[in-house]
Amino acid sequence: MRKIALYNNKGGVAKTTSVINLAYCIQKAGFKVLVVDCDSQSNCFDFFLTEEPIENADSILPTDFEKISSTTWTRYIEVPESELTGYDYILFDLPPVMTEEVKQIIRHAGFVYVPTMLGEFEISGLQKVTLEIAHQNAQLGGIFVTMFQKQNDEELLQQFRAALASQLMQTIIPYSRTVRESQKAGLPIEAYFIDRKVPHNGSSWKIVNAYESLAAEILSVSA
Ligand SMILES: Nc1ncnc2c1ncn2[C@@H]1O[C@H](COP(=O)(O)OP(=O)(O)OP(=O)(O)O)[C@@H](O)[C@H]1O
Ligand SMILES: [Mg+2]
Repeated sequence: MRKIALYNNKGGVAKTTSVINLAYCIQKAGFKVLVVDCDSQSNCFDFFLTEEPIENADSILPTDFEKISSTTWTRYIEVPESELTGYDYILFDLPPVMTEEVKQIIRHAGFVYVPTMLGEFEISGLQKVTLEIAHQNAQLGGIFVTMFQKQNDEELLQQFRAALASQLMQTIIPYSRTVRESQKAGLPIEAYFIDRKVPHNGSSWKIVNAYESLAAEILSVSA
């Protein structure tokens, strides 16, 4: 089993969006995934709630996806270790703050990926984030760019590549209006496209392919 946290002390950089869509890609690759929402905003947990009310609502909940289960950090810490053994991947969606609890979760996960948007001040911010991850004795899996807009961001991307070198992952997640649409519909992006019968050859699928390739990068790392 591998435990992976998604963290950045910056808000709105697609941590939750990435956890949701990575969970989808990882289950599609045949693995059992547990998503742990560690943010009191509870976006990720609410997203995966099924329409049907569930009886034992105090522990791990099933979702509309057979191989994805969902819980919150508060519930997770009460779950006996024996109930976690069936999961291949546990994904932790963190809030954009470095509290003692967040440090504890990072230490618990031991492995962290950092989504970031491109911006003038981001590189120094990322250096602080990676130092903090190291302070918690956790490993940085990699930093990945989200909401990339080709026309605005190409030059900044070059600066990021130069400054972050091998810490920067290959995959770039593009900006796409369909992310919000899919979230409104309560579906991971690919499930939303399938539901809406969006043709596979359309440019909308770029973001789905990007999350698939991000998942492949993550899955290729052995525990
Ligand atoms: N690739 C994308 N293209 C366009 N919009 C996106 C993309 N990824 C995320 N968003 C939008 O950006 C907003 C922030 O995303 P999200 O909530 O995933 O970020 P977060 O890092 O989890 O935020 P917080 O720090 O508040 O937890 C959301 O409205 C989401 O729909
Ligand atoms: Mg979030």
